[in-house]
Amino acid sequence: MIKVGPGNERTRVSQHSSDIAAAFDDSPIMRQLQDLSTRRRHLEEVEIEFTGQTRILTVSNQKGGVGKTTTTVNIAAAIADLGGKVMVIDLDPQGNASTALGVPHSSETTSIYDVLINDVRIADAVQQSPENERLFCVPSTIHLAGAEIELVSQVAREKRLDTALHEYLDDLDEPFDFVLIDCPPSLGLLTINAFSSADEVFLPIQAEYYALEGLSQLLGNVKMIQKHLNTRLRVSTILLTMYDSRTRLAQQVADEVREHFPDEVLKTVIPRSVRVSEAPSFGQTVISYDESSAGAIAYKEAAVEIVKRGAPRRKGRN
Ligand SMILES: Nc1ncnc2c1ncn2[C@@H]1O[C@H](COP(=O)(O)OP(=O)(O)O)[C@@H](O)[C@H]1O
Ligand SMILES: [Mg+2]
Repeated sequence: MIKVGPGNERTRVSQHSSDIAAAFDDSPIMRQLQDLSTRRRHLEEVEIEFTGQTRILTVSNQKGGVGKTTTTVNIAAAIADLGGKVMVIDLDPQGNASTALGVPHSSETTSIYDVLINDVRIADAVQQSPENERLFCVPSTIHLAGAEIELVSQVAREKRLDTALHEYLDDLDEPFDFVLIDCPPSLGLLTINAFSSADEVFLPIQAEYYALEGLSQLLGNVKMIQKHLNTRLRVSTILLTMYDSRTRLAQQVADEVREHFPDEVLKTVIPRSVRVSEAPSFGQTVISYDESSAGAIAYKEAAVEIVKRGAPRRKGRN
């Protein structure tokens, strides 16, 4: 009979626990954590230079709920975190971007509505976000809901934002590196004003069924704007949002979008993450709410890609 002494028992137990540790090391959750910490280290090593030229991007997609607002505020916060000076223009009457950036936007607040309708200067409407001293927001208020109709009778109704924005930007001692415009989910006069002011269209696409539905309509609208209102406009950036890596569908949507737009789609995809969706209820972006979460890291990586790629080249030039 083999007598098992206390020493042997210990060996067996420690063998057992190191087996568990090895299995845990190789578990999906552990691999995910290791992957996140490697990516965080890479982000810490990134060196970014801002050129002093202002890039103006309109974050647009005619579909609602695809991540436009989430992308606007988190990319803005991530660029500010990298050292850039950023302004978000909240052009959606819902005011969700203003909320997420912690900027007051009650009905008495001077807002983008006053800029568009009452000839107020952007300098008098812009507010600093408590998130970051380099992050600013021109808020939206409930009044903006009526602006689509009020704009109809205004002079130069498609160009009012463009005029106000360039008047403001041209007069600054310290230029903005980025202006991001958060659009409502429709092609009304508000979105047309955004398209007329911007150089680049930034298109968030939700990695779900029907992701590409309505996209040809959007591209048609961009062409129309290029022809009649703003020859500078280019679709420069596409970001896959709410990506669920466990589903084949997300992968299929990603493949299809990359096939159609090989140059525009960012390598980074934004995972579906609870931290991303709960941050706005604290008046925060996920960058400050939980900076080491998967969502924050992905948005920071996407921001690095956007800054590093630089502005798209104009057609007809080198
Ligand atoms: N990566 C994400 N993970 C989880 N939820 C998300 C993510 N991105 C957006 N959401 C949620 O999806 C909903 C729609 O996003 P939102 O940015 O408001 O879209 P849009 O501005 O296009 O209407 C919101 O409730 C938001 O919190
Ligand atoms: Mg929105």
